Amino acid sequence: MLRIAVLASGSGTNLEAIATAIEEGEVPAKISVVISDNPEAFALERARKHGLKTRVFKLSEFPDRNSFDKAIIDLLIEESVELVVLAGYMKILSREFVRTFNMRIMNIHPALLPSFPGEHGVEDALSYGVKISGVTVHFVDEGVDTGPVILQEAVKVEEDDDKETLHARIHEVEYRLYPLAIKLFAEGRLKVEGRKVRILPEK
Ligand code: GRF
Repeated sequence: MLRIAVLASGSGTNLEAIATAIEEGEVPAKISVVISDNPEAFALERARKHGLKTRVFKLSEFPDRNSFDKAIIDLLIEESVELVVLAGYMKILSREFVRTFNMRIMNIHPALLPSFPGEHGVEDALSYGVKISGVTVHFVDEGVDTGPVILQEAVKVEEDDDKETLHARIHEVEYRLYPLAIKLFAEGRLKVEGRKVRILPEK
C-alpha cells in the first residue's frame, strides 16, 4: 500500500475527501501522517476524526525555514512516506524538500494553471473576468505552481459568481480529482516525461 503524507494549513476538506476515498477502497493508499504548520488548522480535527496520526510543526520554533523543512523531511523519511500530498498547505517548500521527494509531491490548485498561480487563484480568475476556470493537480517542482500537470478539469464561471460560490463548485471537482490523481500514482500509472505527465492505461 502506498504510504502518503498530507500537508494542510487550513480547513482540510480535500484531506477529508482523500481520507474518505481511501476508507471506501477507491484509492490503494494509506495516510501515514497528517502534518500542519498551523496548530489551529481544522484539518487536524478532521484527521483525528478519521483516526489519522497528526504532527504540527511551528515555524516560530525553528531557527530558519530550512531547518523547519528539514524536520518535516526527517519525519517523512522516518514514516517511509512515498508520496507527499499538499492540500491547502500555505508554505512554499524549500529546494531540499522538493529535491528529496522529486516528482513525489503533488499539489492541487483552484485554477487552470499556468493561469492564476499563487495564493489567490479563485479571486484572480474572477477579477480577470474569465468565463472558465477550474482545477489543476500537478507535481511540485522548485517554482510556485509550475510543476508538470497531472489532471485538470474546467469549471464554468457563472454570471453571478462571487469568490465563495465559485470556490464551492471548484471544491466539488477537487474532491474527485485529487483522490483520482493519488490512485493513478499508487497504481504506477503516472509517467513524467519532461513537462508532460503521461497517464498509462489500466493494467
Ligand atoms: C483548495 O481549494 C486548494 O485548491 C487550495 O487550497 C484549498 C484548500 O482547501 N490549494 P481545503 O483546506 O482542502 O478545504
